[in-house]
Amino acid sequence: MAALRGSSFRLRTLTERLGEPQRLLRRNIYKKKWASSRPRVPNTQLALQNLDMNCSLQFGGLWPSIRLSLLSQQKYGALVNGFADVEKVIEELELQQAKDFVYEAGRKTEGQGPDCKLLADSTLGGIRNLQTPEPSGGTAQESPSVLETKESITLSPNLKCFTFPRGDITRFKPARPDGLRMLQYYLMDAASLLPVLALGVQPGHTVLDLCAAPGGKSLALLQTECCRHLAANDISSSRLNRLRKILHSYVPKNVCAEDRLRITSFDGRHWGVIERNTFDRVLVDVPCTTDRHSVLEEDNNIFSRLRIRERQMLPLLQTQLLVAGILATKPGGSIMYSTCSLSQLQNEYVVERAVEVATTEHDVELRLEDLTDIRTLYRDTFNFYGLCRVGELVLPHLTANYGPMYFCKLHRIH
Ligand SMILES: C[S@@+](CC[C@H](N)C(=O)[O-])C[C@H]1O[C@@H](n2cnc3c(N)ncnc32)[C@H](O)[C@@H]1O
Repeated sequence: MAALRGSSFRLRTLTERLGEPQRLLRRNIYKKKWASSRPRVPNTQLALQNLDMNCSLQFGGLWPSIRLSLLSQQKYGALVNGFADVEKVIEELELQQAKDFVYEAGRKTEGQGPDCKLLADSTLGGIRNLQTPEPSGGTAQESPSVLETKESITLSPNLKCFTFPRGDITRFKPARPDGLRMLQYYLMDAASLLPVLALGVQPGHTVLDLCAAPGGKSLALLQTECCRHLAANDISSSRLNRLRKILHSYVPKNVCAEDRLRITSFDGRHWGVIERNTFDRVLVDVPCTTDRHSVLEEDNNIFSRLRIRERQMLPLLQTQLLVAGILATKPGGSIMYSTCSLSQLQNEYVVERAVEVATTEHDVELRLEDLTDIRTLYRDTFNFYGLCRVGELVLPHLTANYGPMYFCKLHRIH
């Protein structure tokens, strides 16, 4: 019996062993299938691959430097909270050896103040007559027609933003509340301030921020202390909650009173129908591929395979939002379009297409504001591309690691 038991044991172990390769094989097949159905390329890698393909064509020899900068530590600016104890805030920032880049630029241009009037080139009759850029880096292109007409551009006043000098990668300390319980400054990519500055909000203006959340630019618009009324809109109610928190920490209640600030959650594409010909200034800071975020952060990454369709549809959404912004602007008012993407498809092409749609389908006449003088004024702080067909683009650079930030200004004639 013992021998039999022994042999049945041996038999079992033998069949088990014989079965083993089969099981192993099955397990391998299973794993293999899993592996082929789920190739796990990180979203950040997909973003880099996409940018490598498109940006090496667009920027030529500049791309390796932009790429390295995108992957390196970003620089911040400290937007001074004008509703806090400003003198104390400035003193504290100066102690950290930071400088107000807005003021410094104004001071350098023949001692004029930061709210100096700038002479800016402008182009009449849309954007057909601008030259196409050359494929690689260099200086700005100026078509003869651009030089023919000169118009003054006025910067939004009261904005103070401190940065560390070029090449200095010191980081700001987190802002603290002052005696009035207002936070002293708001840390943001300093290049994000350029569209707000160049929008040129003036005292008494009504302003629409069409895609406002999480609220950095809305906060800057309120810091100008020029908005008679600011409408801050965003389709995402959860992101609007972040905007509310920021305003709560930086802006006194009376400035947020209903007659001065309205927070709404509409689809901005319909704004042209909701409130046409209404605002003096409109900011259209559209959803985009957020290139710096996309090469660094895995979460909420638009280069994820699951969001291919959404990404492909971005230029259309951006165009629709810009057209809505144009229609919401009063004749005589101005529109600022901005993205934090390097992509020409999301930048110049969107502006060109939106101007075409507004002109042909809505009988709106627009003039493109040439922002060359803004580039000249702030070139010590930012690294501008200078070869955009329309608008301006801040390129990330290791010595001035801000951006990307594209912005383009339109003036509505009628
Ligand atoms: C680049 S972010 C805006 C950032 C904001 N201007 C700031 O400075 O903090 C783009 C925003 O557009 C919003 N958005 C996307 N589609 C929209 C739509 N159809 N209408 C209005 N907002 C939209 C997104 O929810 C997102 O908050």
